[in-house]
Amino acid sequence: MSVIDDVKQRLDIVQVVSEYAKLQKSGRNYKALCPFHSEKNPSFFVFPERQSWHCFGACGTGGDIFSFIMKKEGVDFAQALHILANKAGVSLVALTTPEKQTQNKERERLFEINEAAAEYYHHLLLNSSVGETARNYVARRGLSPETINNFQLGFSPEGWDTLKQYLKGKGYGEAELLAAGLLVERDDKNSYDRFRNRLIFPIRNIQGKAPGFGGRALDDSLPKYLNSPQTLVFDKSSNLYGIDRAKTAIRQKDQAVIVEGYMDVITAHQHGYDNVVASMGTSMTDKQLAILKNLTRNLILALDADTAGEEAISRSGEIVDKMLPVPPSFYGWVKYEDAHNAEVKILVLPRDKDPDDVIKEDDSQWQKLIIDAKPMIDFILETVIAKVDIASARDKSLAAEKLLPLLFEMKDPLRQAHYVERLARLLKIDEHVLGDALRRFRAVERKRKANKSLPAFTPVAPSLTSSNPLEQYCLALLLQYPELKAESTGLSPDHFEHTENRELFVKWQQSDDLASLKNSLDSALQEYLESLLAKALLTVIKENETTRRETFNDCVNLLQKNMLKNLEVKKQELFIEAQMGGTAAHLAKLEEQGIEVSKQLKEVFTKLDHRRRLARRDGQ
Ligand code: UTP
Ligand code: MN
Repeated sequence: MSVIDDVKQRLDIVQVVSEYAKLQKSGRNYKALCPFHSEKNPSFFVFPERQSWHCFGACGTGGDIFSFIMKKEGVDFAQALHILANKAGVSLVALTTPEKQTQNKERERLFEINEAAAEYYHHLLLNSSVGETARNYVARRGLSPETINNFQLGFSPEGWDTLKQYLKGKGYGEAELLAAGLLVERDDKNSYDRFRNRLIFPIRNIQGKAPGFGGRALDDSLPKYLNSPQTLVFDKSSNLYGIDRAKTAIRQKDQAVIVEGYMDVITAHQHGYDNVVASMGTSMTDKQLAILKNLTRNLILALDADTAGEEAISRSGEIVDKMLPVPPSFYGWVKYEDAHNAEVKILVLPRDKDPDDVIKEDDSQWQKLIIDAKPMIDFILETVIAKVDIASARDKSLAAEKLLPLLFEMKDPLRQAHYVERLARLLKIDEHVLGDALRRFRAVERKRKANKSLPAFTPVAPSLTSSNPLEQYCLALLLQYPELKAESTGLSPDHFEHTENRELFVKWQQSDDLASLKNSLDSALQEYLESLLAKALLTVIKENETTRRETFNDCVNLLQKNMLKNLEVKKQELFIEAQMGGTAAHLAKLEEQGIEVSKQLKEVFTKLDHRRRLARRDGQ
């Protein structure tokens, strides 16, 4: 049994969920106000027999304990497994190499040291006489005592070894303090406090642990901010300042606002804009995006006027590729939007002001900026067009040449058509001319990609003995036959009720081949994948490609049917309960959804039926 199964068997979903939501018995099931969105009537249900949950309200989604924890804690599968394994008393140690185990211990120790440091700095800011200048400073910047407490702001005194002596007194060794980045080592091997005479901002990850610190000078001395160096637990570019305090709001508002600085986040939160996080002065990285991806698909980037506007275009008037000093660059962002069904908007700040200034000056101006934020593409098109002379043929074709690749990245044909039309209008050229140019571009790209093909993989067939055979069978087919990737467009992560299968499917979609899929998995999922492949070794499918394709399509149809049927069953149970005591509105909503499901279900049945009839006819 894989550890994933082990954890599933030892935990009861009712127990797990009840730690986050007030569950009420409702027939054989439980209901609660949905812990993922705010609502007045409960539309969140837990089904003990299936060990699953579903929100029939705004979320319209459900899953098992893993997906529940992933969504609730904003973590990935590996982290959810970690949390649940802890609860279940299942050890993940067997999966981790001894080196990994030692490293994990070291990491925990560094977090512990940082926690002690954060508390000490905070204490000094609030209580010490040396902290007076810093207290005046935060007061001058308008931070309330509550904010100082929420963000656990602190003060590091002037001395060279105040923190060092304090933490050594608590039993930590000098080597560990160096490893945490709290001390700096001199050439003569003596070490001293890294942060001196600074206002301290503990940087916390999504789970609330502090991997590092930022420290602001209290006057004009440089550097303005000093940050923890890279350590075993800290990498500035993979953290988002404020994420621990913003995660719930980001999920509830289904939107994240990304600003640059510590002070911007803090002021925003103090004024009730609690879905704001900071990239900490650098460009957004993939790792930072990955954190947000678990919480929302809607991002607003607050950029200062210079970055957003002038940098988009070089001074000479030539359009530059790297239009924003924000990788993923504009092109990357469009790809990101497409790949994740996301929407990225640009909020342009007034000249020479940052969000901290704007919010303090006039709250309503900030609200307006948020509302007026422009979708990325519109922003790019308008900015570029504004800077070129569209009366000049050369500028026109230059602009088209630079902007077409952007439109090319859009996979949604409707969206693409919309922007082709828009760009044509902005450039004052015939839409068909632009459409033709896009098609030519596409042909070239296709040729380029055709040279990269998928390596073959030895075919094996799965057995059907596991607890969720259909999902596994379908996955096994996909893993064995790369050519099925082209057939898999009808399959979505929602078709997999079990999170481990869903994770494998999603990761498989993002991988070029089995080897890279394996590399992208953490150890628990790797183990699971191995067990899946091992099971699949029992029999060998000898059929030809057509049969395989048909088998696969049948599988997809069945998965689709099961998904809808499960939903139907759940709803029917709820119907009965609702009739016995639910509100009329609740009943109406269920009815509406029920009809939708029945319709989809009927379509699937018709498809399967049709295929069966064809098969019978061929057999005769
Ligand atoms: P800013 O210079 O805009 O600072 O840098 P700020 O956040 O507005 O701070 P105040 O209002 O002047 O106090 C934006 C962010 O860039 C990072 C920090 O994360 C900062 O919040 N930064 C800036 C550094 O890491 N080091 C620096 O020297 C400067
Ligand atoms: Mn500022």
